[in-house]
Amino acid sequence: MHRLLITGGAGFIGSNFTRYMLEKYPGYQVVVFDKLTYAGNLDNLKDVQDRFGDRYAFVQGDIADPAAVDAVMQAHEIDTIVNFAAETHVDRSLMEPDAFIKTDVYGTYVLLEAANGYGVERYHQVSTDEVYGQIPPGHSSLETDPLHARSPYSASKAGGDLLCLAYHTSFGTPVTLTRGSNNIGPYQYPEKVVPLFVTNAIDDQPLPLYGDGRQMRDYQYVLDHCEGIDVVLHQGQVGEVYNLGTGVETENMVMARAILDLLDKPHSLIRHVTDRPGHDRRYSLNVDKIRDLGWESRHSFDEAIAQTVHWYVDNQWWWRKIKSGTYKEYYKKWYGERLAEGGS
Ligand code: NAD
Ligand code: TYD
Repeated sequence: MHRLLITGGAGFIGSNFTRYMLEKYPGYQVVVFDKLTYAGNLDNLKDVQDRFGDRYAFVQGDIADPAAVDAVMQAHEIDTIVNFAAETHVDRSLMEPDAFIKTDVYGTYVLLEAANGYGVERYHQVSTDEVYGQIPPGHSSLETDPLHARSPYSASKAGGDLLCLAYHTSFGTPVTLTRGSNNIGPYQYPEKVVPLFVTNAIDDQPLPLYGDGRQMRDYQYVLDHCEGIDVVLHQGQVGEVYNLGTGVETENMVMARAILDLLDKPHSLIRHVTDRPGHDRRYSLNVDKIRDLGWESRHSFDEAIAQTVHWYVDNQWWWRKIKSGTYKEYYKKWYGERLAEGGS
C-alpha cells in the first residue's frame, strides 16, 4: 500500500486526508483525482504541492468516466483507492438529485471495476452515518443494522455501500468501509451547517436554524476522522464496515449557541426557518468496533468547535472567495424565502 489514489481529494475531508497521509507516511505517493465540482477547490491543497513535491500529483477527472479512471490507474500504478468523491449536501440532493446518483452510485461502480481490473490491495469507501436513517432516542446504529436512507444523498451513499459489499462477496474485491458522522474543521464548504453558521456570524448575518433546532448530530473533528480511516486502511478487516464518530451527540441549537459564544456574537442572530423536508432528527453511532482497533476521537465537541471557529476567523481569504461566487445563487434559492418568512 504505497501508491494511493485519493478520489475527491480536493474536497473538505479528502484534502485533510491527503495532507495527513503525506505527512504521516514518507514512503507513500498520493494522486488526487477530482472532478473539481463546485465543492472541489485547489485552494484546499495549496500548500501540498510545495511541501511534498513529486510525492503528490493532481489529476482532474470524473469517477463516473471509466476511461479517465483507467488512465490514472495505469499511469500512476495505483495499488490503493480511497474514495471520498461524492455529491455530499443533503439540501442540494433535494433540489437536484441527478448528480448524486451519477457520482455516488455509478461512480462507485466505475471505481470498483478499476479496483478489480488493476488488482488493488485495498479499495476503501468513505461513507456516512446517514445511510442508517434517523435513529430514535436511546438507540445507536451498529454496522450490521439495516440501511434506512431517507434523502437522495443518503440513498445514493447507501447504494455505493451496497455495491462495495456486493463486490467483496461476488468478486473478492478487498473493500473496507467507514461510516463517519458529521465532520467539522478547516476547508469545509460553507453550505454545511457549521462553516455556514460561523461565516454568517462573523458577518453579523442570521443563522438559519431548521425547525426547532433540536435535531442531533455527532460532530467530529475532521482530523480524528482521517486518523480513523488510516486505522481501518492498515488494521481493518477486508469486507468489513466500521462506524467512525465520537459517540456524543449535540443538538443543533447548542452547536449554534456555542459558535456565537466563541465569536462573542448575540444569540439573537439565530433565526428559526422552515425545516428541511424529510429532515433526519437524530444520528447516533455505536463506535465499539473501531475502538477495538485502538482508535478514539481526540477532540471533544468543545475543542473541535473552538478550533473550527478559529480557523474560519483566521482564513477569511479562503471562504470569502467562495461566498462571493455562484454560492450566492444557491443561497438565495434555498434560503431566500425561508429567511424572508421572518421566523423567530
Ligand atoms: P465535499 O463535498 O467537500 O467534497 C467532495 C469532493 O468530491 C469535491 O472535491 C468534488 O469536486 C469531488 N467530486 C464530486 N463528484 C466527483 C466526481 N464525479 N468525480 C471526481 N470527483 C468528484 O465532501 P466531503 O464533506 O469532503 O465528503 C467526502 C466524503 O466523505 C463523501 O463521500 C461523503 O459522503 C463522506 N462523508 C462526509 C461527511 C461530512 O460530514 N462532510 C461525514 C461522513 C462521510
Ligand atoms: P448539514 O451540515 O447539512 O449535515 P447533514 O448531512 O447532517 O444534514 O446539517 C447538519 C444539521 O444542521 C442538520 O440537522 C441540518 C441542520 N441545518 C440547519 O439547521 N440549518 C442549515 O442551514 C443547514 C445547512 C443545516
